[in-house]
Amino acid sequence: MSFKERIAILISGRGSNMDALIAACAKPSFPASVELVISNNHDAAGLDTARDACIPTQVIDHHQFGKDRQAHERQIDAALQAHNISAICLAGYMRILTPFLINNWEGKILNIHPSILPLFPGLDTHAKAIKAGMKVHGCTVHIVTEDMDQGPILGQAVVPVLPNDTEHSLAKRLLKQEHLLYPQVLKNFLRKEEPDINVDALING
Ligand code: GRF
Repeated sequence: MSFKERIAILISGRGSNMDALIAACAKPSFPASVELVISNNHDAAGLDTARDACIPTQVIDHHQFGKDRQAHERQIDAALQAHNISAICLAGYMRILTPFLINNWEGKILNIHPSILPLFPGLDTHAKAIKAGMKVHGCTVHIVTEDMDQGPILGQAVVPVLPNDTEHSLAKRLLKQEHLLYPQVLKNFLRKEEPDINVDALING
């Protein structure tokens, strides 16, 4: 087995991207292992998926810290340190990180965002893409910096926007590409290889 970086995944909900990362990391040749899953939400469905995969989970509920966002992140940071984590993947983690965590883990936090950044940062990206009349939509894996959804782009994948698409149908088509892109980009990132541009989905429809 080759050397594996110890990664943590932060989630808030469904955790399907987390699941894709866990599956990739389970392969002996993949350069990472998932050593911790943290959720800010007790009810995140992804927690059960992680437990089923025998990965340690922690719920660090932001509500107990009131408005003190840094206190919440200090606890997350302590959990990451305790598990000797070396890189973090945000996967549907619905909290904006403060400079505290971002600076402590500078260049080591990745996120997947469901749009072709820098288009459509923030929420409701599928609706925004349809409303804008986009013919393609996509997802981006990037490094997290203090400017939300603006960190260096590591990889992107695209899908067509079809004439009758709804937010739901477009999100569903894109999610399949997210699950392919995130592990691939994480692998390249850890091996310090070139970013990926995946246009297969566009060509193949
Ligand atoms: C994904 O669309 C991801 O791009 C975005 O949030 C969603 C999370 O879905 N950041 P899941 O929890 O990974 O299923």
